[in-house]
Amino acid sequence: MGSHRESAVVGAKTGYAAGEPGHVGAFGNRVRVKVLKAIRTRRSVGRVGGDVSQEDLRKIVEAGLWAPNHKLSDPLKFVALRGDARKRLGEVWARAEAQRTGTDLETRLAKDGQKPLRAPLILMIAVRTSDDEIRAEEDYATGAAATQNVLLAAHALGYGAIWRSGDMIRSPEVRAFLGLDRTDRIVGAVYIGELVEELPNAPDREVNKHLTILA
Ligand SMILES: Cc1cc2nc3c(=O)[nH]c(=O)nc-3n(C[C@H](O)[C@H](O)[C@H](O)COP(=O)(O)O)c2cc1C
Repeated sequence: MGSHRESAVVGAKTGYAAGEPGHVGAFGNRVRVKVLKAIRTRRSVGRVGGDVSQEDLRKIVEAGLWAPNHKLSDPLKFVALRGDARKRLGEVWARAEAQRTGTDLETRLAKDGQKPLRAPLILMIAVRTSDDEIRAEEDYATGAAATQNVLLAAHALGYGAIWRSGDMIRSPEVRAFLGLDRTDRIVGAVYIGELVEELPNAPDREVNKHLTILA
């Protein structure tokens, strides 16, 4: 089978017709896609409001699921929290922190307990771990790639989003509350919501400082 026919088949599978942006393209038929602009203009946005529709949530998770994944090991798990579930998460987290650090529960509830309410939607992105060190590392890499896809999808759909980590994502109590396995690893808590202010500026990146070309 020639390269033309092959890419036509791939195009059909992905739902892209030949020549459309996103089409794999036969040799000599390079089609530009808009993802570079999304990568360049995405910013971490901590202050958001409004809501995220169920349809958009599904699109965002689907983008995460298209992350590259070595051997198609399928390690990704997503848990979306909305409404009161965010409050319950805050309580679980505050209790766990109060116990872990021996601090006052009321203070923890007032501080950590409120943090999940900073966005209408929190998308927890987790991966299954493995006793095989290389498998575990590569699966975690898929989790990071999925998280970036999620951030880009949220940005492309016009939302603000931020990848948050901190002690919360390492808490066994939080993992249990989310219904994850004890051995799962949370890669990020992505807070998503409608934009309430302009996107922040960011320092420019200098390609020459980071790139070595061997030829
Ligand atoms: C693994 C990881 C963890 C992060 N955790 C936090 C966090 O806990 N709180 C936070 O405000 N930002 C967090 N960020 C977002 C970074 O601070 C942000 O990407 C950085 O400031 C660059 O800004 P930009 O995303 O707008 O380019 C995290 C980013 C990564 C990759």
